[in-house]
This record gives sequence, C-alpha cells and structure tokens, in this order.
Amino acid sequence: MLPLYIIGFMGAGKTTIGQKLSQDLHIPVFDTDHLVEQAEGKKISQIFAEKGEPYFRDKESEILLSTKNINGIITTGGGIILRKENRDFIQTTGSSVFLKCRIEKIMERIEYDTSRPLFVNKTLDEVQALYESRLCFYENTAKFIIDSTHLSIDETSYEIIKRIK
Ligand code: S3P
Repeated sequence: MLPLYIIGFMGAGKTTIGQKLSQDLHIPVFDTDHLVEQAEGKKISQIFAEKGEPYFRDKESEILLSTKNINGIITTGGGIILRKENRDFIQTTGSSVFLKCRIEKIMERIEYDTSRPLFVNKTLDEVQALYESRLCFYENTAKFIIDSTHLSIDETSYEIIKRIK
C-alpha cells in the first residue's frame, strides 16, 4: 500500500534504501528533507542556523502532509516522529517501515558528518540518549520494523518488499 514511509534515526540508511526500493519496485521516491530544502532554497543546516528547529519542524510537517497522494516511497527526516500529528498521519496513510539500526553502526556511518545539526558537536552519550528517547516513537508508529544492522542494501530492500507484497 502506497505511499510507503521509511522512518528511523539519522544515519540508519533511509535515503539509500528508499532509492534502492525505488529501483527495485519501479516507483518514485521522495525525501522530506530534500523537499524542505527545495521549498526553502536552503540546506537543512542553514535552515536550523538561520530560522531555528521549530521553523524546520513546521516546514517538515507541511511537506509530510503534502505526500498523502504520492504513489511512491517517502523517506523522512529522523525527527519526523516527534510531532503527534505526524505520527498519526504516517499511521493512517499508506504503509510504513521503521528502518532500525544499532546505534554503534549509525555512529560509524555519521561520525564525520557535518550536515546534520542535531548530530554536530554531540557526544556519543548525547546521541545515544536522543536515539533512545525516540525509539518508542519509531517502533509504535511504523507498521513493521526491519533491522538492517547486519543486512546489505540488497537484503534490506528484499526484506521490505517481502513485507509489503
Ligand atoms: C533530523 C534528521 C535529519 C534532518 C534534520 C533533523 C533529526 O534527517 O531532518 O537534520 O531530528 O533526526 P536524516 O534522518 O535524514 O539525517
């Protein structure tokens, strides 16, 4: 059932898996971060720096609501589940997968990333605490969960396709 929302923490591989699913299923993929950047004409880090997180969250929610009738895959920013209205929307629209990944693996992937404002200048403990504070939202919002910690991109896509067919 489409749209298929991919939710999960920063660095879990949502964008990569969304693109792979798009190729495998021959359906389009859209990314909420990318759509916000397009609408604002600025990078996420610039939006956070100039207008603050609440402004970004408003734009992110607006973009999410605009995806309702898309027959495709929607990859989402890791904080999309922070607002109840977004969680309710994802639960009642199309289908959704929580792309789960162990925090150690996530840290390996995004250790040197400077494009994610909520990650920059954070200690491992702080990132871990953020991850844990969000875990129940991801778990309770998604229709199903795929743990990709030990899966390749191909295997993860295959597992998701098995669940939605
Ligand atoms: C955020 C995750 C980012 C982006 C923004 C905030 C978050 O997206 O939306 O930096 O709050 O977790 P990714 O999950 O694609 O990194």
